Amino acid sequence: MNNLVGMVSATIFNMSTLKIIILINNSLSGSLPSRIGLSLPTVEHLNLALNRFSGTIPSSITNASKLTLLELGGNTFSGLIPDTIGNLRNLAWLGLAYNNLTSSTSKLSFLSSLANCKKLRSLNFIGNPLDGFLPSSIGNLSKSLETLGIANCSISGNIPPAISNLSNLLTLVLEGNKLTGPIPTTFGRLQKLQGLFLAFNKLVGSCPDELCHLDRLDKLVLLGNKFSGSIPSCLSNLTSLRFLYLGSNRFTSVIPSTFWRLKDILFLDFSSNLLVGTLSFDIGNLKVLLGINLSENNLSGDMPATIGGLKSLQIMDLAYNRLEGQIPESFDDLTSLEVMNLSNNKISGSIPKSMEKLFYLRELNLSFNELEGEIPSGGIFANFTAESFMGNELLCGLPNLQVQPCKVSKPRTEHKSRKKILLIVIILPLSIALTIAITLHLKSKLIECGKRCTVLSNDSVLSSQATLRRFSYLELLQATDNFAENNIIGRGGFGPFMEQDLKMG
Ligand SMILES: *[C@@H]1O[C@H](CO)[C@@H](O)[C@H](O)[C@H]1NC(C)=O
Ligand SMILES: *[C@@H]1O[C@H](CO)[C@@H](O)[C@H](O)[C@H]1NC(C)=O
Ligand SMILES: *[C@@H]1O[C@H](CO)[C@@H](O)[C@H](O)[C@H]1NC(C)=O
Ligand SMILES: *[C@@H]1O[C@H](CO)[C@@H](O)[C@H](O)[C@H]1NC(C)=O
Ligand SMILES: *[C@@H]1O[C@H](CO)[C@@H](O)[C@H](O)[C@H]1NC(C)=O
Ligand SMILES: *[C@@H]1O[C@H](CO)[C@@H](O)[C@H](O)[C@H]1NC(C)=O
Ligand SMILES: *[C@@H]1O[C@H](CO)[C@@H](O)[C@H](O)[C@H]1NC(C)=O
Ligand SMILES: *[C@@H]1O[C@H](CO)[C@@H](O)[C@H](O)[C@H]1NC(C)=O
Ligand SMILES: *[C@@H]1O[C@H](CO)[C@@H](O)[C@H](O)[C@H]1NC(C)=O
Ligand SMILES: *[C@@H]1O[C@H](CO)[C@@H](O)[C@H](O)[C@H]1NC(C)=O
Ligand SMILES: *[C@@H]1O[C@H](CO)[C@@H](O)[C@H](O)[C@H]1NC(C)=O
Ligand SMILES: *[C@@H]1O[C@H](CO)[C@@H](O)[C@H](O)[C@H]1NC(C)=O
Repeated sequence: MNNLVGMVSATIFNMSTLKIIILINNSLSGSLPSRIGLSLPTVEHLNLALNRFSGTIPSSITNASKLTLLELGGNTFSGLIPDTIGNLRNLAWLGLAYNNLTSSTSKLSFLSSLANCKKLRSLNFIGNPLDGFLPSSIGNLSKSLETLGIANCSISGNIPPAISNLSNLLTLVLEGNKLTGPIPTTFGRLQKLQGLFLAFNKLVGSCPDELCHLDRLDKLVLLGNKFSGSIPSCLSNLTSLRFLYLGSNRFTSVIPSTFWRLKDILFLDFSSNLLVGTLSFDIGNLKVLLGINLSENNLSGDMPATIGGLKSLQIMDLAYNRLEGQIPESFDDLTSLEVMNLSNNKISGSIPKSMEKLFYLRELNLSFNELEGEIPSGGIFANFTAESFMGNELLCGLPNLQVQPCKVSKPRTEHKSRKKILLIVIILPLSIALTIAITLHLKSKLIECGKRCTVLSNDSVLSSQATLRRFSYLELLQATDNFAENNIIGRGGFGPFMEQDLKMG
């Protein structure tokens, strides 16, 4: 950010010996001069992202033959992506995301043209009204391509199996389109894929077993499609998986028993499907789990007490199932929990008073179950309202919770004083020692994970938005900068640079 404001005159781009022009995140407006490409004979990096440029992308841009990086994302460019864009043979990075660009044909002919660019590593068209279909020629793009983003582009039709030719892809983002048909089984060839984002399309068929061959997959996001059949048990082979979002589909199976082997998984969303069966005790294996959303399925049986062992869990949504039995006492061990939704099940018994100590719990919903007995009133329960408990006829508690008043509590037992002695002599010192041990442990944990932990707690929401937010511009631009840096080191006269280095304002 250089706080540059105003219209850009043609002269700014008429710098015949410059190699790098970076003007990202200013308030520059106006359109690019129609002959811009002719005035950039030496420029390798042109980065104008996050400004207010408008008008068309002049086709003369393809004359800037030294360009390796062209980043115009986050402006309001409109009109066509030039069909001759592939004349930029040295292009490695093309970023046109979040503009108002279209294609000259429904076969996205600019893509065929880009097949000429053998050094391409990243293509980003996210958030443009491209319309049209993905052509098979997409499989003729450079094998070196690592990132392909064609999301929120109103693309329809099937996903061409030829995409699987792009064997070096790390990230494929096709979410937010109108894609139909199945996931091509050839996707099993995308051996290096780390992120597959297909959410919010109209895709059908099963989640193919071939996806289980993607050893390096870290994020699999299939939310909001019409996928059906079973959740493949071979998913348990994907030991790299950290984020799995299969929600809002039509999966009908049980959760495969092998699934709980994925002990490094962080977020799990199977919500709004037609899953049946019970929850395995093995759920307790997912020790680092941050969020689990199994709501709106047809799961039954008891909630396994092993859930209490999920010390990192921040969000637990099991609402709208047919879960029964009691809330395990062990839930008081969910010390990181912020959101717990168990509403609309058949859960009975009383609410463990020990849950009062779940310090971070800020949203609790136990409504529409078969709970009974006293609603705890201490600790965090002081903050919950009637809305957290409604539809449980047999609960009792304070009048503001709109439940019946509790009967007078049971008479004290004669063991009271013995208990007191036990407490003072044994339990108290023990628990102090434990507290110290835990504090020390936690401290070292925090130091260990440092930055990473902060990042994770920021996107602790299980909603689709959480996934989508990953493509923030910051990320995109950070990627751009890293990329620029990698490519500049070692070239005469240019060290690594930052946008601030270009002090023009
Ligand atoms: C750009 O520079 C060339 C010569 O180097 C000059 O002829 C031309 O007028 C300049 N254009 C603008 C818009 O300044
Ligand atoms: C600009 O590019 C077009 C098409 O690639 C080409 O026909 C034209 O000769 C180029 N102009 C210059 C000045 O290089
Ligand atoms: C996008 O471009 C179309 C023409 O291609 C134009 O009609 C429309 O107003 C533009 N929208 C915005 C938000 O600039
Ligand atoms: C891909 O490239 C090859 C070789 O240039 C060509 O023969 C083929 O027609 C192209 N495929 C598509 C679908 O455009
Ligand atoms: C790309 O994929 C298509 C269809 O899957 C195949 O026919 C073609 O040979 C592949 N092209 C290359 C260059 O691998
Ligand atoms: C999953 O891994 C097991 C061994 O752990 C192997 O036998 C099985 O074939 C794998 N399944 C798939 C679909 O890769
Ligand atoms: C849930 O399971 C029960 C018992 O198997 C069945 O009667 C009911 O129709 C199922 N509900 C849905 C929405 O599938
Ligand atoms: C469960 O409760 C949380 C927090 O109030 C809420 O965000 C979520 O939408 C609820 N889940 C369902 C299925 O209603
Ligand atoms: C209740 O909520 C208030 C405001 O959100 C907060 O400051 C307070 O710490 C909460 N109390 C408990 C016991 O969680
Ligand atoms: C709990 O869920 C019910 C719907 O089942 C909803 O009406 C209520 O507002 C929710 N309570 C809270 C605290 O979000
Ligand atoms: C697609 O559009 C939706 C809705 O506007 C937005 O929330 C999401 O972040 C967009 N996806 C990407 C990858 O930008
Ligand atoms: C753009 O600049 C604003 C300050 O005006 C800053 O808050 C924002 O983080 C910057 N965005 C990027 C992607 O650098």
